[in-house]
This record gives sequence, structure tokens and C-alpha cells, in this order.
Amino acid sequence: MIDITSARTTFPALSRRLDGRTVAYLDGPGGTQVAAPVIEAMSRFMEVGGSNLGGPFATSVETGEVVNGARAAVADLFNADPGEIVFGQNMTSLTYAMSRSIARTWRRGDNIVLSRLDHDANVSPWLQAAKDAGVTVRYVDFDPDDGCSLELETLDRAIDRYTRLVAFTHASNAVGTLTPVSEIVDRAHDVGALTYVDAVHYTPHGLVDVRSTGTDFLVASAYKWFGPHTGCLFGKADLLESLEPYKLRPTHDTAPDRWETGTQSFESLAGVTAAVEYIASLGTGETRRDRIVSAYAAISAYETTLTERFLAGIGHIDGVDLYGRGTPEGRTPTFAVDVAGTSPAEVASSLGALGIFVWDGDYYAYEVMRRLRKDPDGLVRIGFIHYNTVEEVDRVLDALAALT
Ligand SMILES: Cc1ncc(COP(=O)(O)O)c(C=O)c1O
Repeated sequence: MIDITSARTTFPALSRRLDGRTVAYLDGPGGTQVAAPVIEAMSRFMEVGGSNLGGPFATSVETGEVVNGARAAVADLFNADPGEIVFGQNMTSLTYAMSRSIARTWRRGDNIVLSRLDHDANVSPWLQAAKDAGVTVRYVDFDPDDGCSLELETLDRAIDRYTRLVAFTHASNAVGTLTPVSEIVDRAHDVGALTYVDAVHYTPHGLVDVRSTGTDFLVASAYKWFGPHTGCLFGKADLLESLEPYKLRPTHDTAPDRWETGTQSFESLAGVTAAVEYIASLGTGETRRDRIVSAYAAISAYETTLTERFLAGIGHIDGVDLYGRGTPEGRTPTFAVDVAGTSPAEVASSLGALGIFVWDGDYYAYEVMRRLRKDPDGLVRIGFIHYNTVEEVDRVLDALAALT
């Protein structure tokens, strides 16, 4: 079980006040607050004397250890091997880079399959790569009347033996819906297509397991799970070896280094390891992976209590519509709502003035909002994280009720 008091004291930002009240950070899907050990690890890297990689002296050797430590930590987070972890500026940049390399293998007559439930960072890079390569793009749809679940019939209709890639999200950053990752991966693999999973929204809430799902690629961003602004990509070892990256000479580097262009943010990588350690600290077990598995069970149990309370309350507020699943199963604690008669921007700014921080707009879930006919204003997004409290759930519900 999560010790909520102890978890909250680990986040210095949670003590921030606005007009005498503590701030309720319900903007986690846009980026979580940062755990104190992460801040300390990043400062320490810069305090003790840093250096670039590859030098024959202490600080350079230590930088190498920081990079290797972060690869091992994220490998534990994803259940991968350290050699399968690539770092980059963020998920979007990593996806642009990887999509270019994967697209080099496509031929005219091929097709790729994207999903309408995705953040645009897992749509536009592929759309543009498809245009350059002259391949067709097909979509998997979701059903707004069924909790915004992906419609797997549309996947079955979309894929065939010419499908080279299926790119989809682990969970929607707009409406919180989870997707059946293993099932989609299996169907893609049946026709010989690669899979590219966006786990950016999912990772603060649920256990990632690239071994059991079998995906070829998976991407996440540490700033969504209590760490710094760094993107993390998993790619199966054989693919990271066989695909050709766009990179500078000399080209003799081996994977995963050959996928990392320029100088990495080493201080961030020190923070990435500390963020994984923070997650592991919420669980018990012998190995770090064991503790991560146990931590996510605790996170999920606690977040379910927040979800149940939010769903019970929101159902009683006339004039507020919820988009997405109305039950805790199959979703993250991320809720997209509409308040009748008040624009999402006005709702978010009224709540912001009360110290309740939520997002409005499309948060780059561009296809989702178009499908829900909510573009261009979008919806209000209220997102809970395991450091949020039942009192904060009630506080946002009361504030929404007062707006109707
Ligand atoms: C589901 C999802 N995918 C991708 C992204 C883009 O991530 P990044 O900012 O690391 O490029 C986000 C950012 O909000 C997201 O929520």
C-alpha cells in the first residue's frame, strides 16, 4: 500500500501554496512533479565535476557510469536489457529519429497502421515518413460510445501482409483508455509488421513489460514519471543492430550508442536512475525489477481509490460530461470532461485561480479530439497521480460543481 504522507513529502513542489491553499497538481499527464532524490542526483552530477564521455580521467569515467546506470535502471523499468535502451531529448525527437530509420525499409505498395487514440507524437512522425516513402496510412479507430476503447475489428480490417508497422499507444493521454498491447502486438506480428508503442502516458500508472508484450519498440519520457525531461526508447537488440540510424561519422559504434546523436543530458540521466529508484522504493522485493513490479501494484491500487471517488462524484454533477470509461477498469486516472456553457479554457483558468492545476485543449491528442468532435477547444483534463489525495479529488469535484 502506498504511504501517501511519505510519498508526498518526497516531492518538494507539493508544498507550494497559492493564496494560502496548497496547490493541487492535477496536471500530471502533462508532466509530474519531481521527486527529491532526482533533484539531488542531478545536482550532485553537476557539483562533483562533470565531463563528456570517453576521456581517460575520473570525471569522464564517472559519466560513463552514469549513462550505464541509467540504461540498467530503465531496462529494469521496462523489463528489457540495458543494451536495448536508447536515450534522447524526448519521446517526440526519438520517434522522429526512429521513424526515419524504419521508413528506410519501406517500399511502395506497403502500408502502415496508426491509431486515432494516440498523441500526435506517435502519428505525425509516421505520417510524414509514410509520405516520403510513398506508403499508405491506415487507422485503427476507437469507439466513443464504449469508453473510447480501440476497435480491434478496425485493426483486423487495416492490417494485411503489406503492413510494415503498427504504431499505437499503451494508454490515451486524453481520455485515459488502456489498450490491449499484447493482443495488438500479436496481430501485427502475425502479418510480419513491427510494433511501436507509446508508453508516455501509461508509465506513471502501470507496469511496462516489453518481454511479455513482445513489442519491437516502446517509448516513454522520464518527466512523466517523477524524473527529468529525457526520452527513453526500448528497441529489440536485433533491430537496434540491423536498422541504420542517421548519425555522424565514425559509424563503427554499436547499439545502443549508435542511436544517440550528440551529447546526452548526463545530469538528466543521473536523474532518470533516481526516478526509477523512487518508483522501486514504493514496492518490496529482492531485485529492483521485483520492487518495481510490486510498486506498480501499490500505485494501481491507490489510484483506483482516487478513480472510484472521482467517478462517483462526477456522476452527480449535472452539466459535466465525462469522455472515456466510466469505470476504474481499463483506464488510467486521467479524465477528460466538458462543463456545459463554459469553455475548457475558462474552466481550467477558473480552477487554476483556486490553486487546482488542470489542462485544457487537445494536449496533442489531435485525432482524439477530432473524433470526439471537440476540436479546436478540446476538453478539460484532470489527471491524478499516486501523490494526489482523496481531499484533492473532492476539491476539484466541488470546484466543478460550483461552475455549473
Ligand atoms: C501519450 C504521449 N505521447 C507522447 C508525448 C510526447 O512526449 P515528449 O514530450 O517526451 O515528446 C506525450 C506528451 O504529453 C504524451 O502524453
